[in-house]
Amino acid sequence: MTHSHLTDAEKKELSGIAKAIVAPGKGLLAADEPPKTMENRFSSIGVENTEENRRAYREVLFTTDKSISANLGGVILFHETVYHKTSDGIPFIKLLQDIGIIPGIQADKGVVPLAGTNGETTTQGLDGLAERCKEYKKAGCLFAKWRCVLKIGDGMPSELAVKENANVLARYASICQANGIVPIVEPDILADGEHDLEACIEASQRVLSAVYKALLDHHVYLEGTLLKPNMVIPGYSCEKKYTPEQVAVATVTVFQHTIPVAVPGIAFLSGGQSEVVATVNLNAINKYKACKPWALTFCYGRALQTSVLKAWKGKKENVPAAQSVFMHRAKCNSLASVGKYEGEDAA
Ligand code: 13P
Repeated sequence: MTHSHLTDAEKKELSGIAKAIVAPGKGLLAADEPPKTMENRFSSIGVENTEENRRAYREVLFTTDKSISANLGGVILFHETVYHKTSDGIPFIKLLQDIGIIPGIQADKGVVPLAGTNGETTTQGLDGLAERCKEYKKAGCLFAKWRCVLKIGDGMPSELAVKENANVLARYASICQANGIVPIVEPDILADGEHDLEACIEASQRVLSAVYKALLDHHVYLEGTLLKPNMVIPGYSCEKKYTPEQVAVATVTVFQHTIPVAVPGIAFLSGGQSEVVATVNLNAINKYKACKPWALTFCYGRALQTSVLKAWKGKKENVPAAQSVFMHRAKCNSLASVGKYEGEDAA
C-alpha cells in the first residue's frame, strides 16, 4: 500500500468528514470570495465594499432557514469570515455547526505568474500552511480549499503548468491531512476562449491525471479528499453548441479515465456558467447512466449567489426575499445532484 503517515483513526476522521460534506442531496456553497472579489460583486449592486457589509451579506446567507442544511453539506469561508458574528453576536461558525453544515476555509494565498510561460499561473500559500490549518481547525473548520488555475489555448496548459499545479495541490493536500483537515483539491481549467469540447476533454484529462499522480506520489489519503473540478464544457466563445447530455458524457468519461474510485466526492465549480445552466448541466451529469462511483455535486460560488446579491442589494428589508432566492437555488442544485431537477418551477 502507500506510505501514509496517518493513523487509522486519523484516516477514519478524514473520510468521515469528506463523506458527510457530499452526503446524498448535499453540495457546498463557496462563500470564500476574498475582499477584492467582493468589490466586483458589490459594485454590481451598488453596495460599498466594507468589512461590515461583507459580514452583513454573509449573515444573510448563513441565517437562511435551517432547512437549507438538507441541501448544503459545507460552506467555504474566507479568513475574515471565520471570526465574524451575526448582529446578535452568534459566531458564524457556530451558526453553521448548529444546523449541521460543516465550515471550511480557503487555504491558498492566490494565483501568481509562473515565469517562463505564456501568462500561466501557479498558486501560492504553502508557507505557514500547517500553522494556519491548526488555527482553522481549532476555530471549527474541518476542510479547506486550494484553487489552481489553468488555461486552454495556444500551447496551454503547458506541461510546466500542469506539473507545477498538480504538485502544489498535492503538497497542500498532504499538509491539510497531517493537520486533520480534509483538502478540497481544485484544478480550475477556465472556460474562457473559443476552444471546443474536445479541447476541454483533452486538457481535463491531462490535468486530472497529473493531479492524481501527484496526490499519490505525496501519499495523500484519497478517501479523505474531495475534488472541485470544472465541468468538461466548450469555451464560452466556441461557435459550436453542445447539449447538456454531451457535456455529461464528456465530463463523466474524463472522470472515469482519471479519478480513482477511492475519491468520495466531486463538487463542481460553476466557473461563470449562469445559475440555471450550472444546474441543468449538473442534473444531466447525474442523470447520465454510467459507472460513477463518486458523489457528483456542486460547490458553487457565482451560480448560488448571483440572484441572491441582486435580490438583497444591501437593504435590510430585502433580506427575506434574498434568503428565499438562496433557498431556491440550493434546492434546485440539490435536486440536480441526484438527477431529479425538473426545471425552476418544479423545485
Ligand atoms: P464559482 O462557482 O463562482 O466558479 O466559484 C467557485 C469557487 O470557489 C472558485 O474557487
